[in-house]
Order: sequence, then C-alpha cells, then structure tokens
Amino acid sequence: MAAREQLTAAVNGGLRRGIFAAADSRNVRRLVKRHGMRLGAGRFVAGETLDECIAVLRRLNDRGLWANTTLLGEGVADREQAAAVVHSYEEVIDRLAAEQLRANVALKLTHLGLSLGEDVAYENVEQLARRAAAHGQFLRIDMEQFAFVDATLRIYRRLREEAGLDNVGTVLQAYLYRTPEDLAGLLPLAPNLRLVKGAYLEPASVAYPEKADVDAAYRRLLEQMLAAGGYTAVATHDERLIEWTIRFAAENGIGHDRFEFQLLYGVRPQLQADLARRGFKVLVATPYGPEWYPYLMRRLGERPANLLFFVRHALRG
Ligand code: FDA
Repeated sequence: MAAREQLTAAVNGGLRRGIFAAADSRNVRRLVKRHGMRLGAGRFVAGETLDECIAVLRRLNDRGLWANTTLLGEGVADREQAAAVVHSYEEVIDRLAAEQLRANVALKLTHLGLSLGEDVAYENVEQLARRAAAHGQFLRIDMEQFAFVDATLRIYRRLREEAGLDNVGTVLQAYLYRTPEDLAGLLPLAPNLRLVKGAYLEPASVAYPEKADVDAAYRRLLEQMLAAGGYTAVATHDERLIEWTIRFAAENGIGHDRFEFQLLYGVRPQLQADLARRGFKVLVATPYGPEWYPYLMRRLGERPANLLFFVRHALRG
C-alpha cells in the first residue's frame, strides 16, 4: 500500500473507532437526536413515520428501484415491547401490499426480543414471515453483532426447515472468520443470502481488522454463493466488487434472476440508478422510524467523510 493510502486508512481507522466511542456517549446521543434530522440524517433515513417512508419507497419504485424497509430499533426491554414491534411490522407488511410497492421488510431479531430469549424472537419472526408470505412478500433477517450470529442462523434454519417458509432470507458478514463455514452449512438449503462486509466494531479475535482482508474474503464468498444454487443479494457500494460480480456472472452463465445488488438509501444514488439502467435488479435498503441514532452512527463509522456532510449542513443551517 502506498504511504498516502496507509495514512488515509490509519486516519479513517482512528476516526471510525472515535465515532463508535462517541456514539455511546449520552451527551453526543442527546445532541445528535435533537438536531440530527435537521442536520442531514434524512439523507440516510426515510423519515420518522410510516407515511413518510411510504412516500420515499414510492419514489424509489418510480425510478425503477426495488426497496426494503426497516423500522429502526435494536433491543427491547420486555415481551410487551417486542409485541408492539411485531404489531408495527404487521402494519408495515400490510401497507406495502396495499400500496402495491415493490418492497419488503428487513428486520433485526434483537428488535423482536432476541435478548429476551431465542424462542421469543423465533415466534415473533415466524408470525411476521407468515404474514409476509400471505401477501407474497419476502422477509429478510439482518445480521447483527457477533454475539447474535449463532442464534440468528439457527432461527433462519428453523423458519426454512421446521416452518417450511421459503420467503425468508438472512445475511452473512464477510469480516467474520467463521463465515465460510456458515455458508457451507447453509448452501444445501439453496438460501437467499445477502452478503455484506460487516458494520459492527468486532475484535480481531473474530473478524479481520484489515479492510483489504475483508474485501478479499467478500470476493471469495461471493464467488461460492453465485456458483451455488441459491439467490445472492450483493450488498455493497464497492464498485470494484460490483463490476467483478457482473463479469463473473456473465462469464459463468449466471442469470440476472440469480442475484441482485443492494445499496443503502442515501449512499451512491447515481450508482443505484446506473445499475438499474444497465438492467440489473437494484434494491435500496430504506429504513425509517424515530430510533435512527445507532443506524446513523454506523453509517458515519463506515465512512468518516460523511461527518463532513453533517458539518456542512450545520454551517449552512
Ligand atoms: P466499503 O466500506 O469498502 O465502501 C465502498 C465505497 O462505498 C466507499 O469508498 C464509499 O465511497 C462508499 N460508501 C460505503 N459506505 C458508505 C456510507 N455509509 N456513506 C457513504 N458512502 C459509503 N452490515 C451488517 O453487519 N449487517 C447487515 O445486516 C447489513 N445490511 C446491509 C444491507 C445493505 C443493503 C447494505 C448496502 C449494507 C448492509 N450492511 C450490513 C453494512 C455493510 O456491512 C457495510 O458496513 C457497508 O455496506 C459499507 O461497506 P461497503 O460494502 O459499501 O464497502
């Protein structure tokens, strides 16, 4: 790596750790929550209400893009709170169907009570997956911190094998050393998997600390997934990986019906439009809700340059 790239990586690495540390500060949270939407959080979050989100999803559909939405939130204190989240998601699923949007739900199991017990989360997600299935909708289970990976994969497997639900998929994170083994275990299910690099700050004992290693792992996993029988959601803004996917698919006769690209709302919108224009299915992950703070901090942590975007808004405002 050239000296300049090394310096940039070091600065970004330090900033990233700084952003994750600041995210835990109560004062930072209070400040950002009070002014964040005005300062530009709306670039990454489709509003605080379902109505606001639906309007954004429709605009995306009108531009030829697919979408998924997530009611932001992670972790609930008790079963009643988890039940309220399930109820909100039922409303979202029904509304997506009623509005005939090309959109589905992607959710986090901690939001459905995973920390309260694996069975609590399982029952809740099964209920939602059945509701989605009744509308012919897909449902994606996001992947969270390392501590939840085993339970998330077990729940995904139960939905497929015990409940016989084929309209569910989950996520694998390329930064984890364990992922090749997890993938090998899942491939016999012909799974619908979203591959991401990984968004959480994990220790070097479980995840590659160097970005170059994560990128290389991503490509190896992608190659295996595309070559196998399932469906792959290539979720990255990394143009080199996107172009590599397109070449690999063309060279190996992998049809456009076997994979899609997924990008985050507010990130590389021109790339999203260009890929759709080139005939690929592009899904934009478009979250909403009042609990947007941790989501926003992860987006800043991924690309510390986004902080500049906020500072510019603050100076203008
Ligand atoms: P990388 O970080 O190498 O970025 C490539 C380029 O994209 C950068 O140079 C920059 O230009 C641009 N870019 C990337 N992130 C940006 C940002 N936040 N703002 C502006 N530009 C940015 N993670 C996870 O652990 N569990 C999950 O379930 C999901 N789900 C998920 C769904 C979808 C649709 C996406 C796109 C991503 C996720 N992620 C995730 C997040 C993922 O793990 C990862 O943190 C981000 O996608 C950033 O990594 P890239 O693959 O984009 O590459």
